[in-house]
Amino acid sequence: MRHLIDTTDISVAEVDQILETALDIIADRKKYSEACKGKKLATLFYEPSTRTRLSFTSAMMELGGNVLGFSDAASSSVSKGETVADTVRVIGCFADIIAMRHSKEGAPLVASHYSDVPIINAGDGSHAHPTQTLTDLLTIRREKGRLNNLTIGFCGDLKFGRTVHSLIKALSRYTGINVILIAPEELRLPSYIRREVCDKNHVPTREVTTMEEVMGELDILYMTRVQKERFLDEEEFERLKDSFILNPERLRNAKKDMIILHPLPRVNEITRAVDNDPRAAYFRQVENGKFVRMALIYTLLKWAEERPVTPTPRLDTSLVNNDLRCSNRQCISNSEDVDHLFRETENGDLRCVYCEARVK
Ligand code: CP
Repeated sequence: MRHLIDTTDISVAEVDQILETALDIIADRKKYSEACKGKKLATLFYEPSTRTRLSFTSAMMELGGNVLGFSDAASSSVSKGETVADTVRVIGCFADIIAMRHSKEGAPLVASHYSDVPIINAGDGSHAHPTQTLTDLLTIRREKGRLNNLTIGFCGDLKFGRTVHSLIKALSRYTGINVILIAPEELRLPSYIRREVCDKNHVPTREVTTMEEVMGELDILYMTRVQKERFLDEEEFERLKDSFILNPERLRNAKKDMIILHPLPRVNEITRAVDNDPRAAYFRQVENGKFVRMALIYTLLKWAEERPVTPTPRLDTSLVNNDLRCSNRQCISNSEDVDHLFRETENGDLRCVYCEARVK
């Protein structure tokens, strides 16, 4: 049995296999209409969502399976204090696979330690969003015909944008990728991602402060929303919220075949006038999300049948250090009674296994 907690939990060959399955589904949807008949997906959404939850639901329905779950944790026994660990042990009695979104970073990893059915991370705080990454990869593959030799500009909130973190990790495993980071000082990409993902994988990476100065170089412009819900200081959000707004004027120097992606929802960072530009691929990207989630559910259930495991916690005890605490207030290890896990990086830093924050 396998979980999908982080983009790199699956190899490049496995990612390609999932994308191939998604393309096969697109080519012949009828062939898969009963592929998950008799199976149940539980969607446990502790945080708001439109696309991810409903595309998972739609995906399972198109595979002939059923869906149960909650979209508001306040209506579940979470409001009575039930932990993530207990919740997944219970839901595992009712469902064959679980998709979980949580505001606390590392919550899906905790779930995977206690679940005897596959767990899919549907977004955890500012940390990761691997199924959005699969959506982005399928979109790039369909729009550009390749996943290598691409210059991609990430623009906006690169600090809190979990989709950016996951996609950079995923693309760093392909060849010929150039990354350009377009963000104000306060919303720069966390330095550990730049160091441990871009630099470590020799991905040429550059930081700039305006989109105009790099627009003509880009094959892909990946826009993001400034994430109000992650700011601790409202004044800072107000100051930064309009940092980058894409309009037709700013696209003047863009390549004719550049594509514009956005995980959505958008607020005002792409003006409506851009929607009619054929390079605007963000609504096509949404539809790809359903197809790739169909492929993922189908694949994880197949792997679970082929390689079931007993429901023993997957804890690597060598990582446990209950004398230390993670410094990230949004980390699940600071709100639930779990073992505190830390991994040593190549340069000797200790990093929390749940949220990847460095121990200060
Ligand atoms: N892209 C994305 O995760 O959208 P939702 O928050 O609506 O699920």
